[in-house]
Amino acid sequence: MRIDIITVLPELIQSPLDHSIVKRAKEKGLVEIVVHNLRDYTSDNYKTVDDYSFGGGAGMVMKIEPLAKVIESLGSQRDYDEIIYTTPDGTPFSQSSANKLSLLKNIIIICGHYKGIDQRIRDHFISMEISIGDYVLSGGELAAAVITDAMVRLIPGVISDETSALTDSFQDNLLAPPVYTRPAEYRGWKVPEILLSGNTKEIEKWRFEQSLERTRKLRPDLLEEE
Ligand code: 6GU
Repeated sequence: MRIDIITVLPELIQSPLDHSIVKRAKEKGLVEIVVHNLRDYTSDNYKTVDDYSFGGGAGMVMKIEPLAKVIESLGSQRDYDEIIYTTPDGTPFSQSSANKLSLLKNIIIICGHYKGIDQRIRDHFISMEISIGDYVLSGGELAAAVITDAMVRLIPGVISDETSALTDSFQDNLLAPPVYTRPAEYRGWKVPEILLSGNTKEIEKWRFEQSLERTRKLRPDLLEEE
């Protein structure tokens, strides 16, 4: 998979992609992530990426020319499955969106800034608009990092223990069960007996029941989906 991220703040997005599972996925050659500085696609001396909003009002708007230039330049090099724009008014991101995206070959993510991007970019180039939640971030970079992380860990082969991603919270619309590690007792606080029993079948059953109970209690809305 190849992910091209377009931003006015390349340093802000780069660091989260240089650690942990995403880093290992890159090292294994399972994903290539290329961050592009939008200013490199401007043609004026000031490298202008934003301008005043037509019709007035507070806040700047990301200009059409540099965005069109970078999208078309990338598009001439390979076919893209999705051109994503990160914006608070996009479709809510979910585990199922991450699953679908993780199967694609080439995607572009455009990080929004200021009051957003010129609507004509959305109308003519963007194929998918994603929000990561009902709150406003200063820019799309953190959202792009979230989307990329959620997606990359699902690419086949990225997580060596195949079952690990499958048992994550949300993967089957259930929250994950509680987990424990050594010591088996700390200040008198004991690990549930069943987990020390070695009875794999019973442990699996217990974990499923815990998942169900946690979901019912904390996120009943998940059980009503589908
Ligand atoms: Cl994708 N971008 C911004 N700027 N704010 C957000 C968001 C995205 N998702 C939630 N809030």
